[in-house]
Amino acid sequence: MKAPMPVYLTTPIYYVNDRPHIGHAYTSIATDVLARWHRLAGREVYFLTGTDEHGQKVEKAARDAGEDPQAFTDRVSQAFRDLCGTMGLSNDGFIRTTEPRHRAACQALWNELARRGEIYLGDYEGWYAVRDEAFYGPDELTERDGVKYAPSGAPVEWVREPSYFFRLSAWSEKLLAYYEANPDFIQPASRRNEVLAFVRGGLSDLSVSRTSFRWGVPVPGDPEHVMYVWLDALTNYITAMGYPDEKAELWRFWPADLHMVGKDILRFHAIYWPAFLMAAGLQPPRRVFAHGWWTNEGQKISKSVGNVIDPLALVEEFGLDPVRYFLLREVPFGQDGDFSRKALINRLNGELADALGNLANRTLSLIQRNCEGRLPALAPGGDAFLDGVIAPLPAATGARIEAQQFHLALEGVFEAVREANAHITREAPWALKKTDPARMAAVLRSLHEALRVFAILLTPYMPGSMGRLLDQLGVPEDARDLAALARPMPDGVALPPPAPLFQKIQNPA
Ligand code: MSP
Repeated sequence: MKAPMPVYLTTPIYYVNDRPHIGHAYTSIATDVLARWHRLAGREVYFLTGTDEHGQKVEKAARDAGEDPQAFTDRVSQAFRDLCGTMGLSNDGFIRTTEPRHRAACQALWNELARRGEIYLGDYEGWYAVRDEAFYGPDELTERDGVKYAPSGAPVEWVREPSYFFRLSAWSEKLLAYYEANPDFIQPASRRNEVLAFVRGGLSDLSVSRTSFRWGVPVPGDPEHVMYVWLDALTNYITAMGYPDEKAELWRFWPADLHMVGKDILRFHAIYWPAFLMAAGLQPPRRVFAHGWWTNEGQKISKSVGNVIDPLALVEEFGLDPVRYFLLREVPFGQDGDFSRKALINRLNGELADALGNLANRTLSLIQRNCEGRLPALAPGGDAFLDGVIAPLPAATGARIEAQQFHLALEGVFEAVREANAHITREAPWALKKTDPARMAAVLRSLHEALRVFAILLTPYMPGSMGRLLDQLGVPEDARDLAALARPMPDGVALPPPAPLFQKIQNPA
């Protein structure tokens, strides 16, 4: 059998100017679900996350904290590393842009671009937003009380300094050709149109170095300049694969299958990054997916409003899996969404505890009580519920997850959970013990089989609780992947006594 293509997935690398918040957790969890799904399907996966530690914004944050930038980034970067554990991420790598391997990769990429004549020295004069670490044209700005603002709401300042430029203007046609040839490169489709319009409007050359501060990767041969933080940051995706050593063990993972990003940083990933790569003779990534933004109880999340959501506190209060489930279930992936405690509690109580938890509990308690705790046999003549509702589920779920329709995948599984609950109510196996024990056994086995499928399909979203469910279902560790779904469990397996999977929130504050 031919080994399947390896899969490379990335999150953005997070700025260390601030503590991790719900937005970071969201991007990372979505990527984690995809990584876990591909592994479940038997594919080799590399899942990368990390921290973006250079640039004016981080330098300023360190200064405000009264710390040396390296000590500051060491400290905050650790908070993001800890978040990986808290959020149950299955990342294979964690990269920091202050690592020596990354500095070397940035300088190698720079040299390659320079060697190919893609970089030239000039003077930059224009508007810069430190908060976005981005340059803006005058037509993009609005003015309030004498201060000019970028479309993101970040204030801009006038910058005038010597700068190296990347010949971005020369890449418009090739970018458009790449988008044309790869219609799924930018997802969702609505975002693709925005990018297309922007590129069709014509691209200017991009300033890729700064001289007014020091906290960055020095430009090779001209250390007065540090590299523009986005050129530095984007390069992380190839540093981690061993660039510039194309014989490195991990280089076979390039090009990335997916860069998961928020909508605010799509332009950098869908325009600048493929242009840098093509200009250096490297392959662009296969896909960039831009997800939406969360508001908090209807309000924009911001430090000044004081409504930043701490993912750690959420996990402490509700448990990890309900938080992971909620974030990916509540909002169509790609659209903006609103975080509300009430909505989270409703989903936890109604969908996880009542619909799924009770289905498992009822089924497994009946098997304990009425079948001596042993897995009953399937009905000999086939099972309409399993054939009609459960059999199509794995393929449908996979298609949705692989298209980053995380919410639709969950909707599909929970629709089947609802049908399973209707099935148990209709068949009332508890009443069949005396009248038709064979029928009772067959119904319980068919529900057990449905639960086995639900648990495996939901593992990428809720690895901890679905692992516990699989324990209760008696599924061995080596039979918890997609391939195992095709192999029914042997009859008569002894099952442990069931225990509740999810804790309901009783008196929502
Ligand atoms: N350092 C850059 C990325 C460089 S990648 C080569 C950066 N970092 S960030 O820490 O500011 O943001 C990281 C991610 O968090 C982005 O994908 C962004 O969209 C996401 N979010 C930040 N706030 C958010 C919400 N309120 N809601 C959802 N996601 C949001 O940008």
